[in-house]
Amino acid sequence: MHPAVEVKHLSYRYDDGPEVLKDVSFTIERGEWISIVGHNGSGKSTLLKLIGAIHPVTNGEVWVNGIKVIEDTFSEIHEHVGIVFQNPDNQFVGATVEDDVAFGLENYGVPYEIMHERVKEALNDVDMGEFLTHEPHHLSGGQKQRVAIAGVIALRPNIMILDEATSMLDPEGRGEILDVIRKLQREKGLTVIHITHHLEETLQSDRIFVMNKGELILCGTPEDIYMHGGTLIEIGLDLPFEMKLNRLIFNEDAFVTEMELLNKL
Ligand SMILES: Nc1ncnc2c1ncn2[C@@H]1O[C@H](COP(=O)(O)OP(=O)(O)OP(=O)(O)O)[C@@H](O)[C@H]1O
Ligand SMILES: [Mg+2]
Repeated sequence: MHPAVEVKHLSYRYDDGPEVLKDVSFTIERGEWISIVGHNGSGKSTLLKLIGAIHPVTNGEVWVNGIKVIEDTFSEIHEHVGIVFQNPDNQFVGATVEDDVAFGLENYGVPYEIMHERVKEALNDVDMGEFLTHEPHHLSGGQKQRVAIAGVIALRPNIMILDEATSMLDPEGRGEILDVIRKLQREKGLTVIHITHHLEETLQSDRIFVMNKGELILCGTPEDIYMHGGTLIEIGLDLPFEMKLNRLIFNEDAFVTEMELLNKL
């Protein structure tokens, strides 16, 4: 079986601007949960737009489930990759929650009865089944983002990319979204790519990719990555609370859980 995503020597620049991705290579296996972190402007969103066939690949190669991303395959890639963005308000198009989730399916010409079923199913998947006839604008931030996720799930992608999809939410809302995504990952075998500025959201991922100034500078399990806490701080990232405390008290960089930390004290 092909990996979910293969990126080979990918570089990118906008028009005549500087290179914003510099020779990036990696492989993501199916069903993996990858977190991508990096300072503002490090190229995270650009990378996802190349994987998700929003911008054309100009240098290097991107493969999604064994399909090479080129302009001829863009619409095929869109069936494999679903993207949820930062601000749910910018993603609403329907007058009701139901219409909104149906919108993407309508675009694909899915027949009405099937569409209706899929919309209900997708909203149930994100625990928003009771909100079918509600107006999106009256929902809380976390609920809006769950509707946005339902809109993506209804299209049945196998790769889900979240571009700071939790960043406008309070800690509780962020936790809810991650729980929903984790459930979907398990039930549907989704591959998840989660871009975030909140490093505590990376602790349960399979691997973490660290970007800096267009380069992929670190890539590994949370255990691997948090051994390099000093590097993360140097490039302007804010370590999760446990790692910060571990650094402060024991003067060491390591992946520690709250429990492990308490036991050491
Ligand atoms: N449409 C565009 N046209 C020109 N330059 C762009 C465009 N989009 C992004 N850039 C530039 O490309 C670089 C990488 O931006 P990108 O949005 O990929 O970073 P990011 O890591 O997602 O940042 P953030 O954490 O702020 O979302 C930045 O220098 C940015 O100014
Ligand atoms: Mg971004």
